[in-house]
Amino acid sequence: MYDWLNALPKAELHLHLEGTLEPELLFKLAERHGVALPWGDVEALRAAYNFGNLQEFLDLYYAGADVLRTEQDFYDLTWAYLQKCKEQNVIHTEPFFDPQTHTDRGIPFEVVVRGITQALSDGERQLGVTSGLILSFLRHLSEDAAQATLDQALPFRDHFVAVGLDSSEKGHPPSKFKRVFARARAEGFPAVAHAGEEGPPEYIWEALDQLGVVRIDHGVRAFEDERLMDRLVDQQIPLTVCPLSNTKLCVFDDMSQHTILKMLDRGLKVTVNSDDPAYFGGYVTENFMALHEGLGMTQAQAQRLAQNSLDARLVK
Ligand code: ADE
Ligand code: ZN
Repeated sequence: MYDWLNALPKAELHLHLEGTLEPELLFKLAERHGVALPWGDVEALRAAYNFGNLQEFLDLYYAGADVLRTEQDFYDLTWAYLQKCKEQNVIHTEPFFDPQTHTDRGIPFEVVVRGITQALSDGERQLGVTSGLILSFLRHLSEDAAQATLDQALPFRDHFVAVGLDSSEKGHPPSKFKRVFARARAEGFPAVAHAGEEGPPEYIWEALDQLGVVRIDHGVRAFEDERLMDRLVDQQIPLTVCPLSNTKLCVFDDMSQHTILKMLDRGLKVTVNSDDPAYFGGYVTENFMALHEGLGMTQAQAQRLAQNSLDARLVK
């Protein structure tokens, strides 16, 4: 089954580039820059990948990102991920990057964006993997900080295709970012947002009605709200679900509890994605495989999920 799932042509629509930082590359970059790490070796770092919730993961993820400093680092990170795409027949990807994670450490915006987009264009030419980069705002920071990030980004408007919203969900509702999303949309950028990962279904309503998003990242808690599910089905709003992320971050206790196949049967446009594969135990094929093993996903269901991902691309 693994080989069959691996060969299925698919798109990845929910992937944080900073979340593809494998421990081996993290140690290599730390050495490149003479950064002292709190973990003795790769195994000790991997052993720390035990999370009780989203925030526990984010604390480690932001600490890890500190080794990303130069254009070459961002290139190497992105290039390693694109090679995984090639291996797993991900023919198209729409990755996120979090500029504020880097600019707040004094790394210039252009260093980040140039390293990433150079790798993405090489990936298209050399590997045949097409892409569209999504600039994501950090929701634990203020809307003013997001506005300043958009100001920095607009001179590079050709380098990204959409805006997104990520980081700590609880206590940071989408409505907090209403104005900056309105401005980004007026500038011509479609919007997506993380909602209903740990946060309540109301955050999904807000993302749709107040941010004007065309896709919901995660969205698994929509399952608790029948009226919301009717809306998502009627409008065929894609949900970018991340099964291994959800079990690693205790959104579901176990893969056998995951609701993705029930949502697929309900007519929702659900897709399978890896979120932060270096931290959660696998890339897209491993996520499909976990659904097969934990939920008995059939080949026909896998085909529908993969087709949904191709249909839900922003860039076609
Ligand atoms: N940033 C990276 N991964 C994330 C996730 N699963 N939820 C929110 N923010 C994130
Ligand atoms: Zn995410």
